[in-house]
Amino acid sequence: MKDSSLTGVERFFDTNELIVSKTNLKGHLTYCNDIFLKIAGYTEQECLGKPHSMIRHPNMPRCVFHMLWQTIQNGQEIFAYVVNRCKNGDHYWVLAHVTPSRNAAGTVTGYHSSRRVPDRATLEGQIIPLYDKLLAEERRHANRKDGLNASMKMLTEMLQSEGRAYDEFIAKLQAA
Ligand SMILES: Cc1cc2nc3c(=O)[nH]c(=O)nc-3n(C[C@H](O)[C@H](O)[C@H](O)COP(=O)(O)O)c2cc1C
Repeated sequence: MKDSSLTGVERFFDTNELIVSKTNLKGHLTYCNDIFLKIAGYTEQECLGKPHSMIRHPNMPRCVFHMLWQTIQNGQEIFAYVVNRCKNGDHYWVLAHVTPSRNAAGTVTGYHSSRRVPDRATLEGQIIPLYDKLLAEERRHANRKDGLNASMKMLTEMLQSEGRAYDEFIAKLQAA
């Protein structure tokens, strides 16, 4: 499916840069660092208070975000490869680390994400082909929920066949 609002142009950031954002419990942006704003092409005013999905790229499989939310709402951290959409329709790939933020009493008050440059060979050799398959599976279904269930099943079966949990799978890719 071609999205005419996308340019197909990839943007890059430096290996010593970190793209950082924070959200409230609903995933609405409460903080974006300058690198986030620069690469995505937004001002701080345009971002704060908006759902994080404002930078969602249509080629990201729904099941990755589903797993991300399940994990952080369970109080755990997650690493995920994500392609994001810039304001003008360009895109950029990141390796995101997303964690719950807690107050002194240990209550989760929001979420935090730091992103760094992903390894290109991992992205092209493993992540993009995997996401293409998951996305194709999601798009085979007329109904979003059925698509999500089908791609979650596909991802779970892939991990089972490798004998790894998702976090082990990602850690192994990073180490490779
Ligand atoms: C701390 C944090 C960081 C996130 N970072 C991104 C991100 O960089 N890109 C993105 O598309 N979604 C990100 N999300 C997930 C979004 O909240 C949302 O689930 C996703 O964009 C899918 O949107 P949709 O469910 O409306 O399709 C993040 C969520 C949290 C809590």
